[in-house]
Amino acid sequence: MSGTDERWASRIGLILAVAGNAVGLGNFLRFPAQAINNGGGAFIIPYLVSLVVMGIPLLWVEWSIGRHGGQYGYHSTPGLLQALGKAKILKYFGIFGIFTNLVVAAYYCYIESWTLAYTFFSLFDVFNGMPKEEVINYFKSYLGSGSGFFNISPMAIFFFLITLGLNLWVLSRGISAGIEKAGKILMPMLILFGIFLAIRTLTIDKGEDGAIENAIAGLNFLWTPQFDSLANPKVWLAAAGQVFFTLSVGMGSIHCYAAYLRKNDDIALNAVTAGFMNEFVEVVLGGSIVIPIAVAYLGLASLSAFSGFGMSFMTLPVLFEKWDPFLSALGGVTWFGLLFFAGITSSIAMGQPVMAFLQDSFKFTRKKSTIAFGVAVFLLALPTIILYDHGAFDEYDFWVGTFSLVVFALVESVIFLWIFGIDKAWIEINKGADIKIPIVFKYVLKYITPTFIIAVFVGSLIQPTGGEWSAAFSSLFSGGGWPLDPSSVLGSLLHLGETNPDKILVTDLTRLLLLSVFVVIGLFIRYAWKIKLNKEPKTEEA
Ligand code: PHE
Repeated sequence: MSGTDERWASRIGLILAVAGNAVGLGNFLRFPAQAINNGGGAFIIPYLVSLVVMGIPLLWVEWSIGRHGGQYGYHSTPGLLQALGKAKILKYFGIFGIFTNLVVAAYYCYIESWTLAYTFFSLFDVFNGMPKEEVINYFKSYLGSGSGFFNISPMAIFFFLITLGLNLWVLSRGISAGIEKAGKILMPMLILFGIFLAIRTLTIDKGEDGAIENAIAGLNFLWTPQFDSLANPKVWLAAAGQVFFTLSVGMGSIHCYAAYLRKNDDIALNAVTAGFMNEFVEVVLGGSIVIPIAVAYLGLASLSAFSGFGMSFMTLPVLFEKWDPFLSALGGVTWFGLLFFAGITSSIAMGQPVMAFLQDSFKFTRKKSTIAFGVAVFLLALPTIILYDHGAFDEYDFWVGTFSLVVFALVESVIFLWIFGIDKAWIEINKGADIKIPIVFKYVLKYITPTFIIAVFVGSLIQPTGGEWSAAFSSLFSGGGWPLDPSSVLGSLLHLGETNPDKILVTDLTRLLLLSVFVVIGLFIRYAWKIKLNKEPKTEEA
């Protein structure tokens, strides 16, 4: 069966599925790490502003593109963008919506598999009585770090295969019996686990179980706004990047879910509801676990060590051990279980657009497209697994999980708001709407959102050393040139600050691989349209 006639079964199921799409590892691992690295309270205002002027508007844009193109039988970005205009090139911008989902799925499923493994380890009380260093080493040996050039870890590969298998199983059941059902079961459990952990964490008092601070001190760190950060583009970039990642915008994933809507189904309210559910989980629950627990037991100064996805696996098991044995096992199981639920409802959202492309374009059955997706994810994940220590994983995350989102968001906004046109776009967003969106958003959409994305794009391209923009401009005007930060897009392209030849080699090979995947997807799209035109020589593409 081709996926074209599938639909969501209920509104609540749809909202939970889209919230499941958005609520992910980003909410519990990435958000706290970003907030910490950008000064806690300094991060929150740029984050909330980015949410309002960019995140929510992009949700409306993506839901609309999806529902609109879904009526023409498209469910992935090549067709969905092509349905917005006549120019034949439009479908090629849709490469991004297949590419990012496929590649992000690969490294994302890998982290997701750590959470599954750690749920089991907690269940079997593996960390009981283990000193801090041993917990850290446990994680490293789990990843196969330090065992030679390649990271070879049968256990990590085993859990990865199980995780991928579970994803494929859900996907093979289709939209309503698979994705929708997963959201309906897993989202409420995730919220329950999250509330339990947040309450347990926030009630830690100084002195109790060796706590050196009240957990509330962690909340203060996050929630005491620092207005001077408003002038710091580095914080803005990080905040906007987090909004992209957490809402799953700029990926082609939201579009795909919306493509299974009916013509007059509401999108204005659905988009906002699912978006706010994501924000509740991110700032309220996600903000009340890692940071406060670390502050309570390790102090504010310890926060600087939290960066990347791995920290929670090395630190939290030790902190849960401070609770009594039952609570400590429960802490571990609910924390890693919650991460797993959050992860899987997101990774299936990356699978569906890829599968829908195969189903719509090549008339693949659901089974065949599930298998194709599984094989592709497995092959693409291998480099991130076995070259983890050499930075293949980070390379995927940077180019595909961060930079591509901004590029695609910019492209789709221009196509939808300027080429398809703001008037038609506004009608499309409001069709069947259950709320009245304030008219000011029409102008926000047309001018502010794209400008904001352009600023983020340019900012990430040329971010100066340490994010010191004023120093960079004075250096430029005094003839000292522009001091590029190694973490800027250009800096990273040029391998600034990288001296390890192995790492440079792996980085370049990874980039070559990613570029080839991008090109191959483009060729698939070309081929798909060729068959379509051969079959229906007189039909229009739009
Ligand atoms: N929003 C998810 C998270 O916060 C990640 C994601 C990105 C999911 C893109 C689907 C598509 O972890």
